[in-house]
Amino acid sequence: MGVVGLGTMGAGIAEVLARGGHSVVGVEVNDDALQRGRDHLERSTGRAVRRGRLSEEDKAAILGRMELGTSFAGLAECDLVIEAVPERLDLKRRVFEELDKVCRPDAVLATNTSSLSVTEIAAATGRPEQIVGVHFFNPAPVMKLVEVIHTVLTRPEALTAVQELVGGLGKVAVTVGDRAGFIANRLLFGYLNQAAGMYEAGYATREDIDAAMTSTGLPMGPLTLMDLIGLDVSLEVCEAIYRETRDRRHAPAPILRRLVTAGLLGRKTGRGFYTYD
Ligand code: CAA
Repeated sequence: MGVVGLGTMGAGIAEVLARGGHSVVGVEVNDDALQRGRDHLERSTGRAVRRGRLSEEDKAAILGRMELGTSFAGLAECDLVIEAVPERLDLKRRVFEELDKVCRPDAVLATNTSSLSVTEIAAATGRPEQIVGVHFFNPAPVMKLVEVIHTVLTRPEALTAVQELVGGLGKVAVTVGDRAGFIANRLLFGYLNQAAGMYEAGYATREDIDAAMTSTGLPMGPLTLMDLIGLDVSLEVCEAIYRETRDRRHAPAPILRRLVTAGLLGRKTGRGFYTYD
């Protein structure tokens, strides 16, 4: 299995695949990014060891199943490659053009996009029938749900291969067509965006907005959750759904754009709605 991009999502996906017993080739754009990916993997598996969920031997075996580097050449023999680079269509299309050249003709190429059109990404390749979306949730090692997305061109065999892979990883696969937000984000982001707007309008403190929802049993309040997802990703998801549906609930709350412009992207930059150590 291949993974392109070892940021929060890519590293998480690589870990899930290696935990599932697969050999993983991970590719990053340069040595610094590669080191960040390695650090992420070390932290995540280290935490599992500290919590008694993983033995030191299993951790070593998981990391040992990964071959991490900066060249696409290592992806040539992969059956499936999952792309998890930043959410920019031009960048993703360039990655897929490259994958199309390097990967075996029968390899399935998947994108972990949460807001872009899988069809537009597939159109960058000469094998659109082999392209699917495979949308993991953050944190990937913990969240059970994976959305498997088909376009009008996807071959049923490619879709089935990915559904089976996801099931074999102990995750729950749901299948959906190529519509903005797929299932989960389409349902989730009206609520999250509304929470950002309420905070901006001074309804209540961020803590009280979050407490109102955690006390209903949700694991995180909406503002904390957006900080986890990343405010840049949150903004992109709202924009993508708004562009396709014109549903006003998804017109991004202005505060989201302001925080993103200021570089306050949530946990990954140490500050978003909240400040982190
Ligand atoms: N990586 C790996 N494992 C992690 C982790 C991470 N980043 N964060 C937490 N965990 C693990 C912990 O090790 C722990 O595992 P064990 O029970 O096996 O020991 C478990 O998750 C619980 O962690 P904690 O006790 O530290 O913390 P918690 O109980 O508060 O749970 C949480 C943390 C799992 C993140 C929980 O708060 C949660 O489920 N939050 C909601 C997350 C969510 O909804 N994500 C989806 C966002 S939408 C999205 O991603 C799609 C998109 O396109 C934008």
